[in-house]
Amino acid sequence: MKHPETQDHTSAPAAFSGGFAGWMEQRLPIFSAFRKEYVDFPMPRNLNWLWNFGAILVVVLLLMLATGTFLAMNYTPTSAEAFFSTEAIDRQLSGGWLLRGMHVTGASLFLAALYIHLFRGLYYGSYKAPRELLWLSGLVLLVMVMGTAFAGYVLPWGQMSYWGADVMTKAVGAIPVVGSALEHVLTGGDHLGDVFLHRVFVLHFIMAFLVVGVVGLHVACVHITKSGNPLGREPKGPQDTLPFHPYYTSKDLIGLIVFAMVFSALLFFWPGLLTEPANYAPADPLHTPADIEPEWYFLPFYGLLQSVPSKFGGLLAAASAILVLFALPWLDQSPVRSARFRPACRLGLAGLVMAFILLAAVGKHHATGEWMLIGRLAGLYYFGFFLVLLPLVSRREKAQLQAASPTTSEGDA
Ligand code: HEM
Repeated sequence: MKHPETQDHTSAPAAFSGGFAGWMEQRLPIFSAFRKEYVDFPMPRNLNWLWNFGAILVVVLLLMLATGTFLAMNYTPTSAEAFFSTEAIDRQLSGGWLLRGMHVTGASLFLAALYIHLFRGLYYGSYKAPRELLWLSGLVLLVMVMGTAFAGYVLPWGQMSYWGADVMTKAVGAIPVVGSALEHVLTGGDHLGDVFLHRVFVLHFIMAFLVVGVVGLHVACVHITKSGNPLGREPKGPQDTLPFHPYYTSKDLIGLIVFAMVFSALLFFWPGLLTEPANYAPADPLHTPADIEPEWYFLPFYGLLQSVPSKFGGLLAAASAILVLFALPWLDQSPVRSARFRPACRLGLAGLVMAFILLAAVGKHHATGEWMLIGRLAGLYYFGFFLVLLPLVSRREKAQLQAASPTTSEGDA
């Protein structure tokens, strides 16, 4: 027997004992790590289609990085050239229309997939212990992706790019004490021009690559805590799980194929459906468009921004709509995870989706007249759901469950 000091602590698993794999395994065990995390990894056997969106998001992110890199090679970030360089990509660069079409459609579908992914977490209580960090890292991703999408929309320097940026920088400028300094840092002067556009361009692609790093953390959290499932009960043993490959690789592949079909239909048959026609006119600082409105995915937040009469109040309301999600793991104290077993929570969530859609309609129609009232009521419900309804319902559920079975442990319901 070898002395413990001289024993080989890096002996490779049988599958990677010979050849190049064995050599690598003793130095950097990436093959066995990959096998453990992406082949044999135990997944709950009852995951539904809503668990497909994580893989879809990863693939769309890679597509955005690839197409964005080639777009950046042909784009000029100056206020005089930006609009015409994007037009040239569309009309003169070989395959440029496809590259830009994929990037623009990809941005819309990325946000759509992100909202569905987030809603899945809300519905099945995936934010509850032990997945709080997983949830928080997802929210950091949401903020980063929204920032990246906003910056990207400014780049073509069309009418909506310019006036959207104008609304945003002025809202930042309305923050008490630090607002005007922040606005100055963003714009780099007293008007939106070359310096601003250059900053936005750099921020856009730096943030996009930073997102990849945070996705790495997010997926690491999934692998530590393991996936949740529609029932909200943790698997009790191997009888409740299946290996990731081939069961979930094939399920993810089918999800990706369906997603690619929707993506292609939008890209090739309805390219104008998700974009704003006004952005196909070059930015004109002297001509304010009749309707300034963001892309569809920002409309609910724009609705909130408009429903509050003060500029800073509007910004605070829109930002708080996301900030409140960070507190969710601590606002909802119920030991029951899945809304499938929480009728009151299910009803409340249906109201939340309605409020979100109504706020988008307010953003689209501008918060005047009855839209202002609708915006305020929907906003009130949105915050009321998280800050009042959910904590109250969860406290009642906790008490009921403890009365029914005093031994039920948290996270196991
Ligand atoms: C760039 C954006 C994102 C990417 C690439 C991404 C990727 C993934 C992947 C690959 C998974 C595992 C597969 C799955 O469960 O679908 C996952 C799970 C999860 N993600 Fe994300 N995600 C992103 C954003 C978000 C956001 C915004 C949230 C919500 C705040 C979030 C919350 C979660 C949660 C809670 C899980 C675990 C759900 C469970 O198993 O019960 N993610 N994500």
